[in-house]
Amino acid sequence: MRMYDIIEKKRDGNELTNEEIQFFINGYTAEEIPDYQVSALLMAIFFQGMTAKERANLTKAMVESGDQIDLSAINGIKVDKHSTGGVGDTTTLVLAPLVASLGVPVAKMSGKGLGHTGGTIDKLESVPGFHVEITNDEFVRLVNENKVAVIGQSGNLTPADKKLYSLRDVTATVNSIPLIASSIMSKKIAAGADAIVLDVKTGEGAFMKKLEDSKELAKAMVSIGNQVGRNTVAIISDMNQPLGFAIGNALEIKEAIDTLQGKGPEDLTEICLTLGSQMVVLGGMAANVDEARAKLLENLNNGKALEQFKVFLQAQGGDSTVVDEPSRLPEAAFKVELPARSSGTVESIIANELGTAAMLLGAGRATKESEIDLAVGIVLNKKIGDEVSEGESLLTIHANSKELDQIKEKLYESIVITTKSVKAPNLIYDTIT
Ligand code: URA
Ligand code: CA
Repeated sequence: MRMYDIIEKKRDGNELTNEEIQFFINGYTAEEIPDYQVSALLMAIFFQGMTAKERANLTKAMVESGDQIDLSAINGIKVDKHSTGGVGDTTTLVLAPLVASLGVPVAKMSGKGLGHTGGTIDKLESVPGFHVEITNDEFVRLVNENKVAVIGQSGNLTPADKKLYSLRDVTATVNSIPLIASSIMSKKIAAGADAIVLDVKTGEGAFMKKLEDSKELAKAMVSIGNQVGRNTVAIISDMNQPLGFAIGNALEIKEAIDTLQGKGPEDLTEICLTLGSQMVVLGGMAANVDEARAKLLENLNNGKALEQFKVFLQAQGGDSTVVDEPSRLPEAAFKVELPARSSGTVESIIANELGTAAMLLGAGRATKESEIDLAVGIVLNKKIGDEVSEGESLLTIHANSKELDQIKEKLYESIVITTKSVKAPNLIYDTIT
């Protein structure tokens, strides 16, 4: 088999066989096929697309390029959730204990985040004592006993995806639906999930800005999951503004606690119920989403979800008293309001700009080596569609430095106020099964 022929075949719009896909993925992972040939193939895929069968085969080949996590010692159907990325996305912190409280095992493997805030692990580490450096055996034991545990990333998962992603990044081939779908799904499948719930974001703050593109990506991922034997469901949700109010590590833990007490932001609560219902159904703990939702609401209201969060924190060394006394979480030295410069209605909140401001405050990492300040971040006081009068606080900055002029200007640019009337955006656009 020759890489040249594979490139030519795809260039001309023909379907690659499983053997051809494996040849290219294995050869590239082993550094036997050079970047320039893979670049040419990626560009051919960008223009010609891939059939459903090719996408599933590409995903499988990437999964098999590295280690695969074996979760078979954990009882029950392991359902994983993946979000295509948003700003201040607190859902995992709420969903993990919430669905676990209904007996759905949550075996979460997570890495340190690069970006606006830290990842799920960084956020959890703002709980004093909490740690994810546990052995695989302990991880399995904890999930079997408590239904929820989080472990740091280990092993060499999907090396083919890492190499391909770096190459796509410099060859203008990131934005291809078959390549994005197989990239995301390969990581979830290698991490051992039996079933997958996807939260595909759409809007200004999302990877996919247009609803049609988001739907197409969701369909591609659901089709891959189902073809490789992992039940997959996707919802399409709004990312025209951050979810909830808080953007920051400890701030999001506090927001998750509020939500688990049934007093969280409306949009965050709703998305957790929507995603959670799908997880509970796939996990076999309810016959349909309506039944699942009723059960989830019950556990938010009767305190069981919150209790599950305490048990989870404690089992991994965390000080679970933060749940009742959030003041024990890291707290920033300065809380500074951002007063509105004019009266009107909030027309748009540019999520990415807010995220960047949170990062500049120290909530996120610019490089892998950066230190995170767990206490800092932003708490919105207004969302799209809210009325505001001049001088009223748009948001609260939680900072450990007094030099905020530049960040304040950035924040003003990210919140647009209009005198026209504005409707709050939809939250959930569609469900793809
Ligand atoms: N996220 C991924 O993991 N892969 C892509 O290709 C795009 C976004
Ligand atoms: Ca949030």
